[in-house]
Amino acid sequence: MSESFLAVTRAIADFVATQDSADEHLGAAIRHMEKSSASAAPNPLYLPARPTPDYGDILAMALTAAAGSPLAHVAKAIAPVSGLLPWHYSYPTEPGEENLADRIAFAEIVGPQGALIAPHARLGFTLMAPHTFYPMHAHPAVELYLVVAGHAAWLSPGIEEVVPPGGFVLHRTGQPHAMRTADEPLLAIYAWQGDLDTPSIYL
Ligand SMILES: [Fe+2]
Repeated sequence: MSESFLAVTRAIADFVATQDSADEHLGAAIRHMEKSSASAAPNPLYLPARPTPDYGDILAMALTAAAGSPLAHVAKAIAPVSGLLPWHYSYPTEPGEENLADRIAFAEIVGPQGALIAPHARLGFTLMAPHTFYPMHAHPAVELYLVVAGHAAWLSPGIEEVVPPGGFVLHRTGQPHAMRTADEPLLAIYAWQGDLDTPSIYL
């Protein structure tokens, strides 16, 4: 099983190794994502959680949409592990709030509890159904996103931009951010560095 997960991180590393930025912070975050995906190794302490919620329909739609994108080879590597990804929705739902657990999910593949481990990093996938708003949230970790599929709007106070597949989005420590999908789902890779333990919270 870990060989299939390693194929995913290798595919990510292959793409990210070709990327760079003139922006110092974005460039450093790209190198961190490259290093984390290239150095990921099987986690001897990994205990697969079963059963996990099934987001297969949304994932299948995203993987189909990724064909022909700059990350098509990553989508191809995900397909064999699609039934093994530890999807979860990690925000508590407050009374009166919409429960987004059917529409937003995260699957960490590199991290302390992941199938793979890498020093000072968490790396995984964020999946959103079409026509979904992921409310404004923040966390102390520095986060780099790499879009695999979908043309979602990425929001931060004063900023809203549609980021295509192959595009990066950097969130600095504590920076509020949100995403909105339209007709397509969103599948994106996240890489966290810094404070890996404090969870994201809705603002
Ligand atoms: Fe985030």
